[in-house]
Amino acid sequence: MGARPQFIKLKPIADVIQSKKLEHVVVHTGQHYDANMSDVFFQELDTAPPDVNLGVGSGSHASQTAEMLVGLEATFLSEKPDWVLVYGDTNSTLAAAVAASKLNLRIGHVESGLRSNNREMPEEINRIITDHVSSLLFAPTKLAMKNLDQEGLSSRSILSGDVMADVLLKSSDAINRTKLRNVPESLTSGEFIVATVHRASNTDKHENLVQILDSLSQLGTDVVLVAHPRLRAAMSSQGLNLPSGSLHIVEPLGYFEMLKLVKSSIGVITDSGGLQKDAFLLGVPCITLRSESEWPETFMSSMNILAPEAGNLNELLRRQVGVVSENPFGDGTAAEKIVQALLDR
Ligand code: UD1
Repeated sequence: MGARPQFIKLKPIADVIQSKKLEHVVVHTGQHYDANMSDVFFQELDTAPPDVNLGVGSGSHASQTAEMLVGLEATFLSEKPDWVLVYGDTNSTLAAAVAASKLNLRIGHVESGLRSNNREMPEEINRIITDHVSSLLFAPTKLAMKNLDQEGLSSRSILSGDVMADVLLKSSDAINRTKLRNVPESLTSGEFIVATVHRASNTDKHENLVQILDSLSQLGTDVVLVAHPRLRAAMSSQGLNLPSGSLHIVEPLGYFEMLKLVKSSIGVITDSGGLQKDAFLLGVPCITLRSESEWPETFMSSMNILAPEAGNLNELLRRQVGVVSENPFGDGTAAEKIVQALLDR
């Protein structure tokens, strides 16, 4: 793994592997390298640091993925793993899946079967290729199982539940105890909204980014925009300053502080996949700044709603949301099921 959400997904798997006294070699590609995008998650969640760090860093899709392929192939040849586990949908996932499949290694894909049905998203390409070269597909939800079935992959698929839900469900005490140290108190003492923007389709298209920043700044309620480095880089290269108004930027937060912020807010506005689900599980309404979502389960009771044009956000924020009586993301034992499935084989 190599990108922020993968450090969270790793946690419950690493715990189960450790409890069963199995050998686990954790390889970090180095895709995310800032301390607040990487190290903080290992420290906070108390996960052992990676055994190998390839230090690949940023680059175009081709150069980043190519460098990962070379480093991962060498690592797999020296480690000779029985299984290679890959997580989610990033360039690190794709590189590991392709490198391992060419060496005929068995691959387990954690968070398999998600589809946005939008092939312009680099993550969608990563998901499809990874699913098709993997030996065991661990689907977080019934809908993901259905997607895999539609692509002829059902014989390799297992409904495991969602590893991110495993972490969140076990973290409620830590979230409650956490103090909002890195967000000014003046922003969180009253009603506020949490926002994140980092999808290439929103950051790298000038008109889209301008419209999102303008809409957020005109909400009339304080918006805490937790800025991914991609957003900062895009604003700087496009010569965009923070519009005046209700919008305030803070640096990326650790896991517990981010979830505490979400839990304390009146709503989330995001283009992140993981955050849509975090908001759903914490009972906070979400607006997704995209035209589709790979987590349609979160649409239940209007808890999540799509706003591709970033227009009428105020109206959407004040919408009526229903009570959610079921959790489609599993009972917090996904990692247990995944490791057991590997052992059974
Ligand atoms: C990646 C994943 C995305 C995931 C997201 C989580 C791909 C294609 N996308 O997107 O699926 O949701 O991570 O965050 O793999 N940067 C830093 N410091 C860092 C990391 C990145 O400054 O620690 C900057 C770099 O300048 C880089 C930009 O952020 O160019 C984007 O990073 P990149 O790895 O290309 O993709 P993400 O947008 O983070």
